[in-house]
Amino acid sequence: MAKGSVLVLMVALAAVFLKPAVAVVDGRYDVTMQEKVRKIVEENRFDAPGLIRILFHDCWVKGCDASVLLNMTKGENEIHAPQNGGLRGMGVIQSIKDALSVDYNYVSCADAVVFAAREATAILSNYAIVYEVDGPGRNDSTTSYAADAGVLPPPFADFDFLLANFQSKAGFGLEELVVLSGVHAIGRSHRGTFNDRLDGTVTPSSQINDDYRNAIDRKTSTYYYPASWQALVGAKPSPDMAATAENNVRDMDDVRSASRYDATGVKLTPKGVLDNSYYAANLQNMVLFKSDWTLRTNFAAGAAMQLYKEKPEIWYGLFGNAMAKLSKLAPERPQAEFVQGGARKYCDKIEPAIAY
Ligand code: HEM
Ligand SMILES: *[C@@H]1O[C@H](CO)[C@@H](O)[C@H](O)[C@H]1NC(C)=O
Ligand SMILES: *[C@@H]1O[C@H](CO)[C@@H](O)[C@H](O)[C@H]1NC(C)=O
Repeated sequence: MAKGSVLVLMVALAAVFLKPAVAVVDGRYDVTMQEKVRKIVEENRFDAPGLIRILFHDCWVKGCDASVLLNMTKGENEIHAPQNGGLRGMGVIQSIKDALSVDYNYVSCADAVVFAAREATAILSNYAIVYEVDGPGRNDSTTSYAADAGVLPPPFADFDFLLANFQSKAGFGLEELVVLSGVHAIGRSHRGTFNDRLDGTVTPSSQINDDYRNAIDRKTSTYYYPASWQALVGAKPSPDMAATAENNVRDMDDVRSASRYDATGVKLTPKGVLDNSYYAANLQNMVLFKSDWTLRTNFAAGAAMQLYKEKPEIWYGLFGNAMAKLSKLAPERPQAEFVQGGARKYCDKIEPAIAY
């Protein structure tokens, strides 16, 4: 065999054996990828609200870099900060990352966070809300500091605090605050995050509907005796900080009837749908957090809420735009705090440090 043909053969063999098993993506989040992610989110529908919250909690803190997923040193990472209490769906992000990594190079955990939130939003809104996101290429961080989570607003924040918090990000302001808060139409919250609204700290009737408040209190308390005994033994229920309530009064049959919720214009079934019903609930003082109710204290925010309540199509469009903007919040770390090659293998840790 001539030298030339040996060379050709070797090159051909090398091409066969060295050919990467995965394609380098062209920067788009294409339909094939969307379908893969969608399937995984659908299989984990229960956690889907958690996936939308993860996007906010990742991207709001030094940009979209999956730093919120790192769980390495107890107490030291973002995930250990109180702001990230109750965060769920992290395993789903890993599954999405792994599934896409079979066919594509350099899909990062940060990419998976963005994709997961997009499909969760589409699925939970019955495809009323579909927005564009960039394809893979986001770099995962190697660092995550608990103190950084301090930029996430707390549920007891008042209006001025929330507005300032949103205005601190380019492209975010009052409109995005009111629009994004509408996502509290879905998911659930732990009593510890709204206990201040039940324990008498707030003047109930001005900030929270009395009947709603009592019903939520009952729902998130532990009873030691059957109801029929309580009057006899004078037992008081004990608040359970770990108990949860649905964010949307729409989704709790008992609370809804007890609080005489006005469901005009609201679809009650199926439950758990991401629609504009948060505004109907808030305008009736039937929301869990002060950070939600406080939007009523500002004239412009109040007017916006009235609009989104009456015109769902307007809110759908604005919500999609705001989610797209969240998904684009740029990383804010020194280059040395990113994985070489862009992606962590395990979203919750660095070791073993394998970039693929
Ligand atoms: C405006 C300020 C906000 C505050 C103070 C706030 C606060 C909270 C708190 C305390 C919880 C309860 C978590 C738990 O106990 O498990 C929660 C739930 C949730 N939040 Fe927010 N949030 C805000 C904005 C947002 C934004 C912008 C998004 C996403 C775009 C978001 C998405 C969610 C979702 C989906 C849930 C339900 C989570 C689940 O079911 O696991 N929130 N929020
Ligand atoms: C973080 O890791 C620890 C140890 O593996 C685990 O017990 C804990 O549940 C993890 N935290 C979260 C939020 O997943
Ligand atoms: C990711 O990091 C590389 C350098 O390692 C950089 O060239 C690239 O711009 C970064 N990508 C993004 C989206 O920041």
